Amino acid sequence: MAAAVSRRRSNPTGAGAEAVPANGHTPVLLDSVIAALEPRTGAVYIDGTLGAGGYTSALLEATDCIVWAIDRDPDAIARNSELAATYGGRLHLISGHFGDMQTLLADRGVSAVDGVTLDLGVSSMQIDDPARGFAFSQDGPLDMRMDQAGPSAADLVNTVDESELADIIHGYGEERLARRIARAIVAARAEAPIETTGRLADIVRAVATPRKRSRKGRENKIDPATRTFQALRIKVNDELAELERGLGAAEAILKPGGRLAIVSFHSLEDRRVKVFLRQRSGNEGRGSRHRPEVTARHAPAWRLLGRRAIRPSDAEMARNPRARSARLRVAERTDAPSWGPIGEETAA
Ligand SMILES: C[S@@+](CC[C@H](N)C(=O)[O-])C[C@H]1O[C@@H](n2cnc3c(N)ncnc32)[C@H](O)[C@@H]1O
Repeated sequence: MAAAVSRRRSNPTGAGAEAVPANGHTPVLLDSVIAALEPRTGAVYIDGTLGAGGYTSALLEATDCIVWAIDRDPDAIARNSELAATYGGRLHLISGHFGDMQTLLADRGVSAVDGVTLDLGVSSMQIDDPARGFAFSQDGPLDMRMDQAGPSAADLVNTVDESELADIIHGYGEERLARRIARAIVAARAEAPIETTGRLADIVRAVATPRKRSRKGRENKIDPATRTFQALRIKVNDELAELERGLGAAEAILKPGGRLAIVSFHSLEDRRVKVFLRQRSGNEGRGSRHRPEVTARHAPAWRLLGRRAIRPSDAEMARNPRARSARLRVAERTDAPSWGPIGEETAA
């Protein structure tokens, strides 16, 4: 399990100081995730977001099970090679995307599993390394690529036209000042390409910092660059499409009775998980606009375990401020056939 030894460091989200384990990442909602998966001897699990290996090692410690652990960041795979050696044939590391979990495991001879967990977003190791370009609190290259390949955040902000940039910042950052920020970015890049996190953060802060700070309100404690950085990260890594692919793939690969446990960190993710599970468990509210005709054609593929998301305790949030926005949703696969990928539901 994640080492208990801690050191103090400043939190790059601006949320104050945080105790972190020696391996750099404190797993969020760990006990609830493991309890939800109910690990059994001989069972097979997918950890689609290996990170520092917190969930994976807890599963392997809980019982004599097998874990296939996936991460799109080559650094995460490399840093867990010792863990794989420790657990011998019980832990298999796969470099890839969780949206491809069905193919990745089929290529390795596995067609069905007993549990899938996803802990969305980036790890503390990724955020804390200025060279990865995720954080606005430390200067570094404007990168943000989990895969360490493909177009970077700098490529995006220096090439996309103003209205598309505004749509990205508004859609993925839920930033109401998106148009103003996009205009400022386009003006700044006309002077010189935007290459660093520090310069981008300054450009955003210059137009998005409230003139007057109200005496109360969490809003004002958040760095004005937060939402723009979130939006660019989601876009660079295509995170929402990847989440939808992951949900469809988990449904296809889980055995009847198999469990899905997903931790999300912002409403754009959690909303997608909630709608997917409600729709495909037959628990959609009346009047839903989410393709009711599709729902009517299929038997429920999921049974919801709890109608509401599980939130971290006050103690966990105090210990690990990064856990504050976390939401865990859990569901169990029924024996009904999979509906197919989101947006390509089968005729049934
Ligand atoms: C929040 S961390 C996971 C931490 C992990 N649960 C732990 O306890 O150490 C998220 C990890 O998932 C990876 N990741 C994010 N999206 C992914 C995707 N679509 N496919 C594979 N890995 C992904 C990131 O690279 C990062 O290492």
